[in-house]
Amino acid sequence: MKQLKKLFFCVLFVAILPAVKAQEVSWSEVQPGIWKAVIGQPEKYDLLTASGAQPNKEALAKIGTAPFPLAKSDIEFKVVDGKTYLRFPLQQKEQLYGFGLNFQTVHQRGKILELHVDHYDGQDNGRTHAPTPFYISSNGYGVFVNSARYIKVWAGSGVRKDSPDFPTPTDRNTDKDWAARPYSDAVEILVPAAGVEVYVFGGPKPLDAVKRYNLMNGGGYLPPRWGLGFTQRVMASSTAGDVENEVKAFEEKGYPLDFVGLEPGWQSKSYPGTFEWDKSRFPEPSVFVRKMLDKQIRLNLWINPYVSPEAPFYKEIRPFTSSHTVWLGLIPDFNIPKARELFFGQLQKDQVDIGVSGYKIDEVDGFDYYLWPDVATFPSGISAEQMRQTYGLLAMRYSAEMFKKLNRRTFGLVRASNGGGTSFPYVIYNDYYDHKDFVTALVNSGFTGTLWTPEVRASDTGEEWLRRFQSNVFSPMAMINAWASGTKPWTYPEVEKQIKEYALLRMKMMPYWYTEFAKYHFEGIPPFRAMNLEDGFNQEVTKETLMKVDLEKNPYAEATTREVKDQYMAGEYLLVAPMFTGEKSRKVVLPKGNWYDFYTGKLAGNGEVISITPGLDIIPVFVKDGGIIPMMPALLHAPKPGDKVDLEVRHYGEKAGVYKLYDDDGETFNFEKGAMSWREIKVERQANGQLKGAISAPEKGKPNTIGKVKFVFF
Ligand code: GAL
Repeated sequence: MKQLKKLFFCVLFVAILPAVKAQEVSWSEVQPGIWKAVIGQPEKYDLLTASGAQPNKEALAKIGTAPFPLAKSDIEFKVVDGKTYLRFPLQQKEQLYGFGLNFQTVHQRGKILELHVDHYDGQDNGRTHAPTPFYISSNGYGVFVNSARYIKVWAGSGVRKDSPDFPTPTDRNTDKDWAARPYSDAVEILVPAAGVEVYVFGGPKPLDAVKRYNLMNGGGYLPPRWGLGFTQRVMASSTAGDVENEVKAFEEKGYPLDFVGLEPGWQSKSYPGTFEWDKSRFPEPSVFVRKMLDKQIRLNLWINPYVSPEAPFYKEIRPFTSSHTVWLGLIPDFNIPKARELFFGQLQKDQVDIGVSGYKIDEVDGFDYYLWPDVATFPSGISAEQMRQTYGLLAMRYSAEMFKKLNRRTFGLVRASNGGGTSFPYVIYNDYYDHKDFVTALVNSGFTGTLWTPEVRASDTGEEWLRRFQSNVFSPMAMINAWASGTKPWTYPEVEKQIKEYALLRMKMMPYWYTEFAKYHFEGIPPFRAMNLEDGFNQEVTKETLMKVDLEKNPYAEATTREVKDQYMAGEYLLVAPMFTGEKSRKVVLPKGNWYDFYTGKLAGNGEVISITPGLDIIPVFVKDGGIIPMMPALLHAPKPGDKVDLEVRHYGEKAGVYKLYDDDGETFNFEKGAMSWREIKVERQANGQLKGAISAPEKGKPNTIGKVKFVFF
C-alpha cells in the first residue's frame, strides 16, 4: 500500500511538473524580421484566422531581416491550469506603447489591462474599440499575441522573487523615495487558453516594428481618393429630398463634399434593422443613388448587424445566428458561409449593386448591456468571448469583399477592430466626445494598426466647433457626424470663414494624404502616429514633474514624467499640435532638426520645447526641414479617374528633399496589378545657392492624374 502511495505521488509529481515548468520555445523567422513561437496547443480560431490577414511578403522582404531583439532565454512561457502565462523581459528606462486604442495615455509601462472589445468608457483599462494585443518598445521591437480571448496584461507591474533586477526594499518610514510600485522587469500576460501563437517584430527602431506588424497584416488599406475628401452624416430621419437639399447647399456655399452618410433612417426599421430602404423616405433608391453619383457624391450607409424579424432574410438566417439577440435582433454568425451569403447578399443586391459606396458598421463593440453575454452560443462553435473580440473584424472583412468583387474601393466607419485588422477599409469612431482624448486616440491609433477619426458632432461655442474641426481635418476621415444635431459646417457663423478654409485645405492636401495612405499600404507606415515613432524625438526634453504628490488623497501616489499625447505626426513631414477650447497658447515638443511653420515657412525651432500663441484661425502645424508637400487646387470633390489636376509642390526649409508621389486611378484595385506609379519629386540646391524642384516624367502606360507642376519654396 505504502509503495502504491509512493508510486501515486511520483506519477502525480511527474504529471504536474511539465505543466508549471517554463517551456523551451523555438522561434522561427516566418517573415524577415518577424519571429513566431507556438506555445502549448493554440486554439484554431484566433485574430489572424478571423481577419484572414495575409502578409505583404514583397514589402517585408524589402525591409529585410533584423537581429532577434530580445534575449531568448529571458522570455518565458508556461501553460498552467489550462491557461498560458507569457513573460517578456524589460530593461531599465524602456517605455511601452500600444496595447490597443487608448484615449488618455501613451506610455503603457506599469499598466494593468484587460484587453476586451468594448465601447470606450473614459478609462484606459484595456476595454476599447481595438484592444489590439500588440505592444511596441522604445527599445525598438514589438510583440503580438495572436489570441481572440480576453487577455490580461501586467505591463511591468509584477515583481518576482527570483528577478535578476530585484529592487532593494526600503523603509517607508525613513525613505522619501519609497515606491508604491517597485521596479518590475517584465511584461506578463495571461491568455485564458492552453496555448497561443506569439510574434516578435524586430527593429532597430520602434517604427520598424510597427511597419512589420502592419505589413504582416497586409498593410493599410489604400482608400479611394474620394474617401480622403470631406464627409457629412445627415440627420437620422432625413429623406432623399433632404439629402438632395443638403448636397445642394454644400455646392452653393462652396464647401467640399465627397460622401454623405445616411444614418439609421435609410432603413425601413432599425435597432434591429431590416437592411432594406425605407420607401417612404427613399421611394426610388437606385434613382437617388445614381443622381448623387452624377453629382460626385457617394453614399455611406449606417448599419448595425442585428437582424429584425421584418428583414427579408430573417427566417432563412435564423439557424445561423446566436442563441442571444441584440436589441431583439438576431446576431449573424459570420463564421458560417450561409450566414454571410444571406446577410451580405442582401446588402449587395439592395445597396452595393445600385452604387452605394460604403458602410458605417455600428455597435459591434459594446457596451456589455447591449451586446451578447459571454454565455451566448454561436452555431459555428466559436465562443461568445471570441466572437466579441472578433465581430468587428468579421464584419469589416466580409463587407469589404462585396466591393472588392466589383473592383471598387470603399472607405467606411466601424466601432470595433482588433489585431489583424490593419488592411480593412474602415476608420474607428465612437460616441465619446472629449476633444483632447480624441487627439490622444489619434496618437495611439498608429500603434494598433487602426485608423481613428476625431469626428465633429456639435459644440457649445464657435470656438469649440472650430478647434474640433481643425483637428478633424488632420485625421484619416474629415467628417461631421450630424446624425442627432443636424449641424452643418456653417452652423456657427462666427467661425464660418475659418471652417471653410480648413475644409478647403483638406481638399488641397489630397495628393499628400493619398500618398501617405499609399505608404501605409505599401510600406506599413501609419499615416497618423505618435511622436515616439519619430526620429530625433527625445522624451527627455519633456521631463517635468506633472503630478504634485498628494499622499492625503492617494497614499501610493508617485510623481510621473510627462507623456506627449497632444501632438502627432501626420504623414512623413507634418507635426500637428491641436489647440483646445479655452486655450490661447500651448507647448510643442519639436524633435531634432529644423522645423518650420506650415503656413508661413518661418523657422519654429529644433529639438526643443516651444511655446506658441497661434490665435483661433490656426491649428499649429510644423514641417520637417526639407519637407515636400504636394497640394492641388481646392476642388469641391476628389478628382475623377482620368481627370488631371495641377500640383503646387511646397518645399520647406534649407535641406534638399525627395518625395515619392503616388498615383493611380484612385478608385479601383487595378493598382494591385501594376496600374500605378511613384513619381519622384526632387528639390535640390543649385550652384547659385537657389533651390530648384523637378518631377520625374510619367511612366508610359500608367495612370497619370498630374497636370502642371509648380514649385513654391517656403
Ligand atoms: C450610435 C453611433 C452614432 C449614430 C447613432 C445612430 O451608436 O455611434 O454615430 O450613428 O448610433 O443611432
